[in-house]
Amino acid sequence: MARQAGAANADFGAHADGHRFTLDDRLPADHLANALRSDVVEGLTASPKSLPPKWFYDARGSELFEEITLLPEYYPTRAEQQILTRRAPEIAALTRAMTLFELGSGSSRKTRLLLDALTAAGTLACYAPLDVSPSALEQAGAALIRDYPGLRVAATVTDFEGDLSLPPRAPGPRLVAFLGSTIGNFDAEQRHSFFTALRHTLSADDVLLLGADLVKDREVLVRAYDDSQGVTAEFNRNVLNVLNRELDADFDPDAFEHVALWNEEDERIEMHLRSRTAQSVKLPALGLSVDFEEGERMRTEISVKFRRDSLTEELGRAGFTVRHWWTDEENRFALLLAVPSR
Ligand code: AVJ
Repeated sequence: MARQAGAANADFGAHADGHRFTLDDRLPADHLANALRSDVVEGLTASPKSLPPKWFYDARGSELFEEITLLPEYYPTRAEQQILTRRAPEIAALTRAMTLFELGSGSSRKTRLLLDALTAAGTLACYAPLDVSPSALEQAGAALIRDYPGLRVAATVTDFEGDLSLPPRAPGPRLVAFLGSTIGNFDAEQRHSFFTALRHTLSADDVLLLGADLVKDREVLVRAYDDSQGVTAEFNRNVLNVLNRELDADFDPDAFEHVALWNEEDERIEMHLRSRTAQSVKLPALGLSVDFEEGERMRTEISVKFRRDSLTEELGRAGFTVRHWWTDEENRFALLLAVPSR
């Protein structure tokens, strides 16, 4: 699945005003369609059934996720924002970054705290967001070049699970931000591959800024993924609408119940969809018919929660040394700065 960076690499040279936004699309037009099809075939023919969480984020799913971040029960976004607000100037002073990369940048909203601090420090020349969604990158890019007059925005459309090579000509030192505890969607093996691949694309003076949600009281965790207004339930079931639309499937979302549970052994929240009845679902685009038993669960997301020691060790095994570990006042969430080990 790994691909080389396309010939039309984003240009990091000087740009006249008005050309401060570039978009390098590294995904072949059919990449997402093919990836969805193979993920769905693999996940729905496996036992137990599962779907990868990345398919939550169509337009409606992204909107629902934004709503989740505003829920009283969903603390991670606010906790991370609190840390960033407090530490951004320190991060800017420590890194003196010329390029800020952001993996899975989405709306780039929290990123502004970093952009403000790096702009104030006078080092930042370029913001390089990477995301699978060209429309999210275009929207965010347009707003950013408007609000940051000296900034170049070099966006890359990519699926960084398959291709983590960062545009090589971006001026260093480079700060790579991976925020929101999106890392929690990866199991231990995926995290190891991800950290190792990232380590290999970084130079000695580059740094990683990682947001990670922490292990805490299970009630607090479960409530964050099973809110009283049912927004997370709708977010979870929305993946079935994605399959209906993209693969012509005939899921009835109301025939599935939202489940959020704490997996004690793996220290992760899991979201599942539980079939309310015995039913059979057709996915003609894949030539597939899938049977569900009454009460059968299909896992749709893992959201791993971290501890300082084990995450530090994990990063160490991939060639990173954790230099700073900051948490919010209630110790719910961590933001860490790691550098290539020497
Ligand atoms: C965006 C993956 C970090 O795991 O907390 C929120 C997604 N899922 N509520 C998370 C999510 C349910 C979120 N991440």
